[in-house]
Amino acid sequence: MKVLVIGSGGREHAIAWKLSRSKQITKLYIAPGNPGTGQHGENVAIAAEDVEGLKEFAKKERIDLTVVGPELPLTLGVTDAFEKEGLKIFGPTKAASILEASKVFSKELMVKYGIPTAFYKKFDDPKLAKAYVESHKPPFVVKADGLAAGKGVIICGSMEETFRAIDSIMVESAFGAAGKRIVVEEFLRGEEASFLAITDGNTVLPLAPAQDHKAIYDNDKGPNTGGMGAYSPAPLVTPEMEKELISTVMVPAVKAMEAEGRPYKGVLYAGLMISEGQAKVLEFNCRFGDPETQPIMMRLEDDLFDVLMATVEGRLDGIRLKWSDRWSVCVVMASKGYPESYEKGKAIEGLGEAAKLRDVMVFHAGTALKDGHVVTSGGRVLGVTALGEDIKGAIERAYEAVGKISWDGAYFRRDIGRRAIPGTV
Ligand code: AMP
Ligand code: GLY
Repeated sequence: MKVLVIGSGGREHAIAWKLSRSKQITKLYIAPGNPGTGQHGENVAIAAEDVEGLKEFAKKERIDLTVVGPELPLTLGVTDAFEKEGLKIFGPTKAASILEASKVFSKELMVKYGIPTAFYKKFDDPKLAKAYVESHKPPFVVKADGLAAGKGVIICGSMEETFRAIDSIMVESAFGAAGKRIVVEEFLRGEEASFLAITDGNTVLPLAPAQDHKAIYDNDKGPNTGGMGAYSPAPLVTPEMEKELISTVMVPAVKAMEAEGRPYKGVLYAGLMISEGQAKVLEFNCRFGDPETQPIMMRLEDDLFDVLMATVEGRLDGIRLKWSDRWSVCVVMASKGYPESYEKGKAIEGLGEAAKLRDVMVFHAGTALKDGHVVTSGGRVLGVTALGEDIKGAIERAYEAVGKISWDGAYFRRDIGRRAIPGTV
């Protein structure tokens, strides 16, 4: 079987690595990939957003299955374009990926179908948004409706901050057309977790729960990033809560999409806020999480190709996933300055040493090759991921590997996974 993975981040490296272990795959391509994915397959210089180019490549190479990593190609209709040609592809259609692409759509869907979420109001006029805010009490969360690379959400502690957020998104167009409409939402307290499932539109198959660390600094301080690390399992999501989430969030969402004429196939990712055992949905994503996928793939014992093909072919009802009992921790190493501006092109040392450690995978994200040497080329550079018998063991092994890797300006959090250690608050 010939498989194409679309994307170039740490998530795609983890997916490509896992797929490369499948005995059924004879050829693996990654478009555009990175130096890490190049270790497991052939990188092809086609951008993840180049839907036409990807489709032509898949046709020419007779690709049996394409797996989409990031949201952008999904929202551009890559699945629709492939399916029109009879090509098999894992990921929701354009009509279904609106669940991530529009916060207004997903909030309205949740309210209509009784899926627990924060109270909200939508606005397309900044004056009306401000009038609403003035008659209520902060804190608020202001969200641009459209895709904003994870930056379109502003938490506002005061009235002034809320006004500024509304102006920045709606008047100054900080996120372009994505901010034409906004959602003003009730601020929820609690702890966050990511719950991901794979669905063929009928069966909903949960993945192992994971938790990421969004803030840039230790103890969840500083601005949000794409994710500075993750671990799995996530003790916050107990087996009872998992059952409840399937029946109150995941299955209703899939049924709701069907009822709305937007049948959903692929990964359904619910970002949750959990407080006193109760979960509310902060957002839905239409793809695997990054960096949650890195520890999740390390723990998956099944052949990923089988699972993804069964999803595309609507055969998930016969499948149950097997997970390693071990824990997995992923520490993201980033460029100094991220999530703001940062320098690129720094030579990375120690990758070989780190890779020699048992139960460690160094997943590449923002890396490039320069004169045969791996250099930094993005904000999140590496996802150093390890397995351990318990959370402590996994943390120790991941940081042991991190300690072997260096470049000028490497930054990483030192507390990834710590809150999962029993007795830690
Ligand atoms: P979203 O893209 O909607 O998941 O928001 C990004 C991040 O903003 C989340 O991961 C949370 O950390 C935070 N956030 C979003 N909505 C809320 C909310 N209603 N209350 C508190 N924090 C929130
Ligand atoms: N880790 C957050 C995300 O993938 O959206």
